[in-house]
Amino acid sequence: MRYILLLAAIHILSSPALADFREVFEREFLLKPWAGAEVEESVCVECHTSEIMKPEYRHVAEEWKLSWHYQNRVSCHDCHGGDPEDAAMSMSPQRGFLGTPGYTAVPEFCGKCHVGILRNYLESGHGKALKAGKRGPNCVTCHGSHGISKASIEIINDRLCSRCHSYERAKSMKQALFLVEKKIENIEKDLEDLRASGVYTEDERKALFRTHAEFRALFHTIDVSLVKNRTDEFTKKLDVIQERIEETSSELAFRRNFSAFIMLLFAGMAVVVFLLSKTYMD
Ligand code: HEC
Ligand code: HEC
Ligand code: HEC
Ligand code: HEC
Ligand code: HEC
Repeated sequence: MRYILLLAAIHILSSPALADFREVFEREFLLKPWAGAEVEESVCVECHTSEIMKPEYRHVAEEWKLSWHYQNRVSCHDCHGGDPEDAAMSMSPQRGFLGTPGYTAVPEFCGKCHVGILRNYLESGHGKALKAGKRGPNCVTCHGSHGISKASIEIINDRLCSRCHSYERAKSMKQALFLVEKKIENIEKDLEDLRASGVYTEDERKALFRTHAEFRALFHTIDVSLVKNRTDEFTKKLDVIQERIEETSSELAFRRNFSAFIMLLFAGMAVVVFLLSKTYMD
């Protein structure tokens, strides 16, 4: 019996349980929806889903409820302004209501939160063409407005990107992004595996998150040669993260082997003790 307790103790000591760090991290970096979160009903949502709403506007709130913004608690008034608590005054300019942005005002409208992306966009061929005469796409052209989901290079597709110019330009951009995105995907998967076996991976996840965010903002420059040049730099950063993950994995394997070894050792000792005690009894 004592041996069994001892074995159990060794096993518990060798499996780290650090679950709460994950939660803090997810809350801080919004990698996952806030735990159990739901946007509180605001007067905006209430009235805009009610019968008085004109039918062509009614889909707006439904679309939004499926969006990544909804999951991250970005509500009507966070984008449109206004007072979410006072129905009578909610859409008055005195309470900061901005209304619906015009086509060329959309980038600043979104960019009050997505600051780095706005900067890259305004300096790009797209941003300049928009400011010069509406020929460039704005944020909504590519992302939509109410049903926005998590971004990915899948947004770069023939149907969308050949509306204004040949798809060739868009395709070379997608190729430049593709390799780094694949690498990021693989690292994410490795981290997920490690996390599932209870290993502390938050430092690596933070590093990956920063690199990923920086890299993804880069698309908005739509400067293919810039993206290609910086791809090397990002690949190097990602290699460092990957190396750290591999080290952790092999340490983990060692620890598992080691506890298996200890268990065998004790099992062996138990047998010896049993045989010895038998010898004495006889
Ligand atoms: C992420 C920012 C964002 C959020 C959140 C958001 N909107 Fe909008 N909304 C926009 C943008 C940008 C436009 C203008 C572009 C367009 O029509 O798609 C718009 C347009 C509208 C319009 C005019 C639609 C039309 O066809 O003219 C209505 C009505 C509206 N929003 C209501 C809402 C309500 C109600 C909510 C909350 C349920 C909401 N919005 C949440 C960004 C947002
Ligand atoms: C008591 C009902 C009610 C409340 C509360 C309300 N709305 Fe509206 N909203 C309407 C109606 C009705 C319209 C359509 C007006 C029209 O016919 O043009 C509208 C139109 C809009 C539009 C598009 C027209 C425009 O002026 O740009 C937006 C955007 C909008 N609402 C956002 C909001 C936001 C954000 C809130 C909360 C801060 C809010 N609404 C609260 C009833 C409401
Ligand atoms: C020509 C299409 C296009 C336009 C215009 C555009 N985007 Fe994007 N956006 C993309 C693509 C494609 C990605 C994904 C890039 C990737 O995964 O490498 C993306 C990614 C993003 C992301 C995720 C990046 C991150 O770090 O999490 C955000 C946020 C975003 N865009 C916001 C905006 C805003 C705000 C604007 C307007 C100022 C805008 N986008 C204009 C296509 C566009
Ligand atoms: C009030 C601040 C705010 C405004 C305004 C806003 N966003 Fe966001 N957006 C967020 C937050 C918070 C997230 C979730 C965190 C994240 O994923 O980066 C997000 C996420 C996103 C994502 C997904 C990023 C990803 O991880 O893939 C896209 C795309 C995006 N927003 C585009 C837009 C567009 C387009 C507009 C304008 C119509 C807009 N946002 C306006 C705060 C805002
Ligand atoms: C609403 C029209 C429109 C849409 C949609 C659009 N573009 Fe563009 N794009 C432009 C304009 C305008 C320019 C700049 C003028 C020019 O060089 O033709 C441009 C230029 C470019 C360039 C060249 C930039 C440079 O500096 O040489 C690339 C790359 C590009 N777009 C990629 C994309 C991608 C990727 C998509 C789809 C996600 C897309 N575009 C969708 C209008 C659009």
